[in-house]
Amino acid sequence: MNPEQPDPDLMAEAAAVIQQGGLVAFPTETVYGLGADALNAAAVRRIFEAKGRPADDPVIVHVASAHELDRIARHVPDVARQLAARFWPGALTLVLPKADIVPGVVTSDGPTVAVRCPNHTLAQALIAAAGTPIAAPSANRFSHTSPTTAQHVWDDLAGRIEMILDGGATPIGVESTVLDVTGTVPKILRPGGVTAEALTAVLDHLDIHVPQTTPPNHAPLAPGMLDRHYAPQAEMWLFSGGDAAIRQGMRETAEREKGNGRFVALLLAEEDIPYFAHNEFVIGNVGLLADLNQIAQNLFHTMRWLDQATVDLILVRDFPPIGLGSAIRDRLRRASRRIIVV
Ligand code: TXA
Ligand code: MG
Repeated sequence: MNPEQPDPDLMAEAAAVIQQGGLVAFPTETVYGLGADALNAAAVRRIFEAKGRPADDPVIVHVASAHELDRIARHVPDVARQLAARFWPGALTLVLPKADIVPGVVTSDGPTVAVRCPNHTLAQALIAAAGTPIAAPSANRFSHTSPTTAQHVWDDLAGRIEMILDGGATPIGVESTVLDVTGTVPKILRPGGVTAEALTAVLDHLDIHVPQTTPPNHAPLAPGMLDRHYAPQAEMWLFSGGDAAIRQGMRETAEREKGNGRFVALLLAEEDIPYFAHNEFVIGNVGLLADLNQIAQNLFHTMRWLDQATVDLILVRDFPPIGLGSAIRDRLRRASRRIIVV
């Protein structure tokens, strides 16, 4: 579909699927979502089945505008209204006290609900046509890399869902920022499309400590130490440190593991490429270090592409924690089996 001019007949068809309790995957500005009627518990349960997602991981409710906040949340603090006014539609998810109308399956029976208003014409058109808020996690199999194209959704979920709306590649490429605004200080639970820098420009106080990521200088970590998530099928090792040390560490490790008979791929930035020109490894180039927005856009696609090359081991470089770099680092830490500080 042309995302700027959604076909009205197809939108009506997609809306009917949602209204009948079915599942429709759709693009947002971050990643593709797997949508169901958020007020229909049986429909939302089907999301968990299709993804193979455990019931204790709650999903985000997508709304058409900030006006719907009062319907989904029992209480909307002033700071939530301020943030919605500034960042919606956009890649910011707000965690708020849940209203009774929201079924327990959406929030994993917890007292809070995550709400976001996506900045994408197709997503907006779907919510409007369905006439109901839409519960949607990322449209991937559980713990796999989030989808940034309709093909990625197809690869993970074909045969398990009713419909995929193809609106092309998603512009941001990493998921929304999840911000808990139920406490006295807003707290980032997941760094994402709206950066900490953008939030601090508006907020007096912000807790940016992200739980469950690996503390620096603890490497290499044993397998199973990380909250494995957002992961390709191949094992991934993350190299963190200065640029020269990263390149040297990746080259040495790649040679050694190749010698051990493993099929090794390297996930690099454009600036790294000249240093690997004479090596014989599969190389995924995510773009310029100097342009972290471009890297966010390419990251998941490149991880999936390397997986299709059926490599055994992906060595990936770390990125600076500036702007979208924080979200990129978070996803790489969760996706990697080992972190090697060089
Ligand atoms: O960009 C995005 O956020 C995409 C698009 C489709 O909107 N959605 C997405 O959903 O990434 P999902 O389910 O893959 O990730 C949602 C995250 C999960 O880490 C979940 O645990 C957290 O939000 N979450 C959902 N409800 C929550 C709640 N009530 N309290 C705390 N965290 C919550
Ligand atoms: Mg997800």
